[in-house]
Amino acid sequence: MSGKGRVVEGVTEEVIHAVSVIATKRGGAPLTDAQIAWVIDGYTRGEVAPEQMSALLMAIYLRGMDRREIASWTRAMIDSGRRVDLSGLRRGSVPLRTVDKHSTGGVGDKITLPLTPLVASFGVAVPQLSGRGLGHTGGTLDKLESIPGWRADVDLDAMITQLVDVGAVVCAAGADLAPADRKLYALRDVTGTVESIPLLASSIMSKKIAEGTGALVLDVKVGAGAFLPDLADARLLAETMVELGADAGIATTALLTDMSAPLGRAVGNAVEVAESVDVLAGGGPPDVVELTLALAREMLDLAGLPDADPAAHLANGRAMDSWRAMIAAQGGDPDAPLPRATHEEIVTAAADGVVTTMNARAVGDAAWRLGAGRARPGEAVQSEAGVTIHAVRGEAVRAGDPLFTLHTQTPECFGGARAALVDAVTIDAQPGPAASFTRPAVIDRVRFGA
Ligand code: URA
Repeated sequence: MSGKGRVVEGVTEEVIHAVSVIATKRGGAPLTDAQIAWVIDGYTRGEVAPEQMSALLMAIYLRGMDRREIASWTRAMIDSGRRVDLSGLRRGSVPLRTVDKHSTGGVGDKITLPLTPLVASFGVAVPQLSGRGLGHTGGTLDKLESIPGWRADVDLDAMITQLVDVGAVVCAAGADLAPADRKLYALRDVTGTVESIPLLASSIMSKKIAEGTGALVLDVKVGAGAFLPDLADARLLAETMVELGADAGIATTALLTDMSAPLGRAVGNAVEVAESVDVLAGGGPPDVVELTLALAREMLDLAGLPDADPAAHLANGRAMDSWRAMIAAQGGDPDAPLPRATHEEIVTAAADGVVTTMNARAVGDAAWRLGAGRARPGEAVQSEAGVTIHAVRGEAVRAGDPLFTLHTQTPECFGGARAALVDAVTIDAQPGPAASFTRPAVIDRVRFGA
């Protein structure tokens, strides 16, 4: 399809060609709503060529988009597929509120696993449509698939039944939800345009709006392991997404959270599930617990339960009961032992001192090289692969102490993982106060109009 021209009462409407859309944005002018709708629709149906969309994405990356354009781009992606309506859900005669969480992705970010059943244990429905990992950040579905029997593929009817019966569901987003985004994301990945704030915001929000949640909490990561390491960029992304949510009638809050070091002490698949279960049992690493509780409070607040105490449900077993029901509803056995790697190696500290930095990106790369993640969509991952962290920021070590255990089924991967970790950690003999080398888990909060 080369363009569009329509005569209405003797007047020719705007003629749109892929080249004119690219040229508009290349010159720095805003795209019209009609141009955006046309180009997204044409690309989704295969009538705008990938090389043309690549050029447009790069022009957007370099020139940006204003608020109207971003809203219009998001709407066009939603309109490319099905929009689910969860507003009428009821449990018996009681209307069910829905609230979802989305993280922009981080190393060791297993928060969805304890958070979803925790929030559901208060009677709120949590529809958590998730993805698989690509690159250095792991995918929630890959992690859960390490539980024997657990299935990610749940159709819409089964998802709604589970939301009503159990309150919590984590499953794969259907192919008919914002299909334009699926195609565009693959193209952004190979054209160096992933990190554009308008493209990131519209990609994330199109899927969340299409999935039909009533409220949304966004966890926007900041630091070395994040898509946007810089705080100002992450804040702009958070503000843009909160505005898009408000425009769509979805109560949306964003937390800016630290991703300069991995979350917790486990990075990988089964090892992250085990750590999540520790949190649900009332234990687990303090940073994972703190972030889980901070996000749970925001979700419960948006669901109309501002006084709910999520820490109590971690302590009294209600969150664990909800987890067990959620896993069993999708065929998983919550009591089955998790798979363990057949090969392990230990990386030791080179000096005495205190760990003051741990580069999240490097640890994520190491887990990926061990087989926990994939380089291309569709590749298999190893449930057993990952990294266990023995000394986190602020902890003292002696030369020769274990820093990391590497887990894999494929021992030929150890060399690459060790190489990724060479400069991952700083050990300082005179570190100064902890506040000089750590950040709080939650850096800031962004709410519409606040
Ligand atoms: N996750 C998404 O859904 N979209 C992006 O663009 C990046 C991360």
